[in-house]
Amino acid sequence: MNTGKPLQGQVAVITGAGRGIGAAIARKLSTLGATSVLCGRTQSTLDAAAQEILRAGGKVEVIPCDVTVLHQLEYVAARVNSTFQRLDILVNNAGVGRFREPLHNLLPEDWELILNTNLRGVYYAIRAFAPMMIQAQSGHIVNISSLAGKNPLPNGAAYAASKWGLNGLSYSVAEELRGHNIRVSLICPGSVETELGPHAGKDPNKMLQPDDVSHVVAMLVTQAPQSFASEVLIRPTQKP
Ligand SMILES: NC(=O)c1ccc[n+]([C@@H]2O[C@H](COP(=O)([O-])OP(=O)(O)OC[C@H]3O[C@@H](n4cnc5c(N)ncnc54)[C@H](OP(=O)(O)O)[C@@H]3O)[C@@H](O)[C@H]2O)c1
Repeated sequence: MNTGKPLQGQVAVITGAGRGIGAAIARKLSTLGATSVLCGRTQSTLDAAAQEILRAGGKVEVIPCDVTVLHQLEYVAARVNSTFQRLDILVNNAGVGRFREPLHNLLPEDWELILNTNLRGVYYAIRAFAPMMIQAQSGHIVNISSLAGKNPLPNGAAYAASKWGLNGLSYSVAEELRGHNIRVSLICPGSVETELGPHAGKDPNKMLQPDDVSHVVAMLVTQAPQSFASEVLIRPTQKP
């Protein structure tokens, strides 16, 4: 059935889709006609996000997974392949941060968690999902970075390092995959009102909202296939 929706028939995997920016992206892509596959570690929040999409008439699938564990992402890829036989959009959104102390006081286990989630997790997801896109000779990968991947972030050095690393990964993978007709885009938002810090002292009314990011994702993945926006920086109009 052709509903005239731009992503009708397409399948999108969104990591970290149970809340915050990821949930907003999943809602938006479903509104545009895609089936959103929601990934994250917490079944209950994924189920709640999925219910919201279903109530709005969208198509959704929940597959819990931890992006720091390669075989869990490989399982998701196998499920997507067997269920849908296609993957059009991969949004690498799952991320964690810690913004309380200078780097010399950060515990090694916190460094591990941040780098393993924000950087290694994206490598794992691309390793798991890119072969499907290469086989199809089409696809769009959207990596959610941060303005902290462009600027210094005192008391958030590990987070900033993970996002600077993600930017370098994204620019490089974009060159590796464009010959396969796969587009790789990077989004760097400023502070967004979600559970992720550091937002102390910021006016939530002026901060970016998750839908400001989902709107940009929608713009990117609906762009005509012969070109792509490789990087978008998002700032609130008024400084929060
Ligand atoms: N909020 C901001 O100011 C801001 C600004 C720029 C960029 N960003 C980026 O935007 C992305 C989303 O952040 P957010 O603000 O929406 O944060 P959030 O509300 O804390 O949501 C983070 C999501 O990531 C998931 N997640 C964390 N670790 C995971 C793992 N190992 N495997 C799978 N899922 C995992 C969480 O679900 P579970 O805990 O259930 O797994 C949650 O759904 C992150 O990459 C963040 O760095 C945020």
